[in-house]
Amino acid sequence: MCGIFAYSGPKSNAPETVFEGLKSLEYRGYDSWGVVTQPGESSLQPKSLVVKKRIGKIGTNNINELPSSHIAIGHTRWATHGKVTELNAHPHLSCDGKIAIVHNGIIENFVKLQADLRASGHKFVSETDSEVIAHLLEEERKTSDLPTALRNVFSKLKGLNAVIAMELNSDTLVATTNGSPLVIGIAKGEIYMASDPSALLPYTTEVIFLEDGVIAIWSENMLRFASTKTGKKLEPTSQQITWKAQSAEKGAFAHFMLKEMHEQAAIIRSIAKKAESNSNFDYKKLADRIKKARHCYLVGCGSSWFIARIAQYVFAKIGVLITPIVGSEFLEAAPALSKDDFLIVLSQSGETMDSIKPVKLAKKSGTGIGALVNVPGSSISRLADITLLIEAGPEKAVATTKAFTATLMHLLLVVKAMDEKLFSKLDFNKVAYGVERALSTAKTTQLDRLAKKFQNDEHLFCLGRGVSFPVAQEAALKVKEVSYLHAEGLAGGELKHGPLALITEGTPCVVLAPNDETYADAISGAMEMKARGGFIIGISPQTHQVFDEFIAVDDLGLGTIFLELAVVQYFGYALAIAKGLDPDMPRNLAKSVTVG
Ligand code: G6P
Repeated sequence: MCGIFAYSGPKSNAPETVFEGLKSLEYRGYDSWGVVTQPGESSLQPKSLVVKKRIGKIGTNNINELPSSHIAIGHTRWATHGKVTELNAHPHLSCDGKIAIVHNGIIENFVKLQADLRASGHKFVSETDSEVIAHLLEEERKTSDLPTALRNVFSKLKGLNAVIAMELNSDTLVATTNGSPLVIGIAKGEIYMASDPSALLPYTTEVIFLEDGVIAIWSENMLRFASTKTGKKLEPTSQQITWKAQSAEKGAFAHFMLKEMHEQAAIIRSIAKKAESNSNFDYKKLADRIKKARHCYLVGCGSSWFIARIAQYVFAKIGVLITPIVGSEFLEAAPALSKDDFLIVLSQSGETMDSIKPVKLAKKSGTGIGALVNVPGSSISRLADITLLIEAGPEKAVATTKAFTATLMHLLLVVKAMDEKLFSKLDFNKVAYGVERALSTAKTTQLDRLAKKFQNDEHLFCLGRGVSFPVAQEAALKVKEVSYLHAEGLAGGELKHGPLALITEGTPCVVLAPNDETYADAISGAMEMKARGGFIIGISPQTHQVFDEFIAVDDLGLGTIFLELAVVQYFGYALAIAKGLDPDMPRNLAKSVTVG
């Protein structure tokens, strides 16, 4: 959820560095932000750290009034405890202003901790759970150094939390976590800390993903690690991130979402090429585990859940029953897991708490775990037995596009590893080209026009059958996420069982009508909606008189779903633009949902 960035080193513009880092992490939370640093020489308050906090997105804000310094910490917030106010924004200070913290997570026992601290005289200025950490540190610091103080404080916190702390007149940074992501970026004589490796790319590609229960200590130009519990020295090994710095930037595109949609064709080509040369993707390993499993479950949340639903249809085509279950429902919906089962979790971020919970349950039950994730080093990638990195590159827009496509394509290649026949006609180079055509200026101009027409509507329906049903659900999610228009993805057959009551004169109805066994039924559904006044937007390789608007896509068999996806992704984007909204950072949402 929240984004954390910290720097300590020889640069005197640490606040600026941290501020820039926050901008690249803003997709993790954007209801408020803040930066803390050392007071300048001319500061009126030399006995206190100095903080700038603001509510809202970073936008055109600056931190000009913060002094030059060699150390700073920043935070972008996605509120859990306490409203969106400047006082609730991080960083939080101790009563004496000498210790500052940023926090990601939820402190389950904060009410008790806060009451005890109040009783011993501490004054709280925010409504957050996080502020207790600063006050607890102030207490511990009376008798220990900062690293020991943080270790002692951390042992008192219940829940899944990540914390970074600094103090007045010191270049020391301390960070620890249990379940919330923190990455340490290593460069010569300086240190960076962030919630996501993509934020570190402008500075370094050498990183250490902080394991749960490990504390990182940067002091006097030295980086040390220890067990948070025992203080015993640890020596985690660093890794190289292969992502390129430019891939985390918007470049010439107006929005990350637009850029990421346009990256999809290249990603499809690159995955296809690697798959052909059989290099480093573990399709066979996953395929073997699926074949041997008593029950195989596919788990994901949001868009990843719809990828799981699409995959269910594709696996069914080769006679394999695989059960998709939405992450947050897994514990209740799945029967007791056993060693003979296999669980595959899909997660772009690799940090979604609702998807991590089933993984942890599987671990306890001795159930094998496969994972398809985008962010290297993420929690899920570390928990799984077989991790397939989807290699979509950093994805910044909250609404996923390219990671969806990449994950889906890898899953199709797992199916292919089990049964080649289904794929004899599927040419991924044609799919890549088809996606380019689906996003060509001619198509996007058509979709922009439609978006303007429907921008003030309240409801939108998207209809699909077979494998296009979950694509319709993903279409509705995209539209909801970025344009705030109420959208529903429907199975064509379900129309007459309720949703038809909602179709009135002019209601926009998107109909996915690929040239497969579902075509005739998709058209029947379109007819039923049209008869009630619906405005039918047909996405199909072939036109039909029922369509009020026809968006042509290539006819690529199973590959057509990628083209449908590209069109509906862009339609969601176009609706957001028509309504003057920021598609990259939709209200109330965050890209990485690390709370359950
Ligand atoms: C959040 C995002 C969704 C995303 C979901 C799952 O809710 O807003 O767009 O689909 O998380 O994310 P994951 O990283 O697990 O794929």
